Amino acid sequence: MLNSKTIVVGVTGGIAAYKSAELVRRLKKLNAAVHVIMTENACNFITPLTMQTLSQNPVANNMFKEPSTWEIEHISLAQKADLFVIAPATANIVGKVANGIADDMLSTTIMAAKAPVIFACAMNENMYQNQIVQHNISKLRKVGYIFIEPDCGKLACGQEGQGRLADLDDIVDKVIRTIIYKPDLAGKTILVSAGPTKEFIDPVRFITNGSSGKMGYCLAKAAAGRGARVILISGPVSLKAPRGVDCVNIVTAQEMHEEMIKRFEYADIIIKAAAVADYRPINMANNKIKKAANNLVLEMVKNPDILKDVGSRKGKRIVVGFSMETENLEQNALTKLKEKNLDMIVANDITAEGAGFDKDTNVVKIINKFGMIKNLPVMTKEHVANVILDEVLRLENVEK
Ligand code: CTP
Repeated sequence: MLNSKTIVVGVTGGIAAYKSAELVRRLKKLNAAVHVIMTENACNFITPLTMQTLSQNPVANNMFKEPSTWEIEHISLAQKADLFVIAPATANIVGKVANGIADDMLSTTIMAAKAPVIFACAMNENMYQNQIVQHNISKLRKVGYIFIEPDCGKLACGQEGQGRLADLDDIVDKVIRTIIYKPDLAGKTILVSAGPTKEFIDPVRFITNGSSGKMGYCLAKAAAGRGARVILISGPVSLKAPRGVDCVNIVTAQEMHEEMIKRFEYADIIIKAAAVADYRPINMANNKIKKAANNLVLEMVKNPDILKDVGSRKGKRIVVGFSMETENLEQNALTKLKEKNLDMIVANDITAEGAGFDKDTNVVKIINKFGMIKNLPVMTKEHVANVILDEVLRLENVEK
């Protein structure tokens, strides 16, 4: 799968360094040419011999102790590599790269690299949460470096928290995705909304719709896979938030509105895939409504149109809406595109074969504000998500 790809695995000094041996083995199994660079501290946790044996290549660690050809070789490696994966990445290496410090073989090679660099962080939780470390991470993210957040669990220091090196399956998955899909959204922040909202009638009853959230979650996953920082505002669904995506859970349309408005300023691209309830009961009964008369009249009030609100304040941001229809697909979608001041709309007839709530496929029409109309056949929602992102990028380039 990674035939003819050159991957540099950078290993820094944390207890998770032993896991990088398995990472190298897995990448070799996928037929990648693997080169390992270790920091001096990494060599206290695992030996270069182990990494050399597994990678079948000499291991670079100290640029001043190695034969001097290494000084040149690390530059050629930096140019030849298709991808760098630093696993584990300590606060130290993140801090060095974020601040332009190149004082050993690994930091120097990363600095000279043209290829995408993935940092799979692992450290003590307090260190990871430290504002300086977080600042360094967001600084690097902004210029296109890719991060795999640590997992939560028991740490080597005995503490529980977010600091463990991510699962190797996830790291390998990210490597494959980054190599196959160019990280063309690196440096961008994308705000995605997904799923239904619930509008309460009384403490036990609510109005909702059948949205499963699959389309929005596929968008969030695809965007994160292509290097974006993704914030997902999700209604109640039974899906697991994709790795590397910041997920904010909401229940009602008003909550979704609040969370979107709080965050949209920081986004470059906003994609509103949620199926928002247009109305909510005027008053939610404090207690369960008892059955009495034969007819029950429920008075409803309009919910805020979140997308319209975002569209009216969007500035240079790209705003994409969805249009869920059962008739007059194109006409209704065009009206929404105009009325909500959108850049693009993804129209779907939810009654069409291969489309609809809770399906793994979708059939959509992508329409942009310049009149481009793209009719897509039945595709997996994952595939549709990537085509939508391609179109967003194309639109961005036209606007430049
Ligand atoms: N939307 C929104 N807030 C609402 C209603 C809809 O942000 N209160 C967004 C949806 O997330 C979607 C787009 O607007 O991106 C269109 O939603 P849709 O349900 O297709 O249409 P509506 O605007 O609600 O209009 P109608 O129900 O009359 O078709």
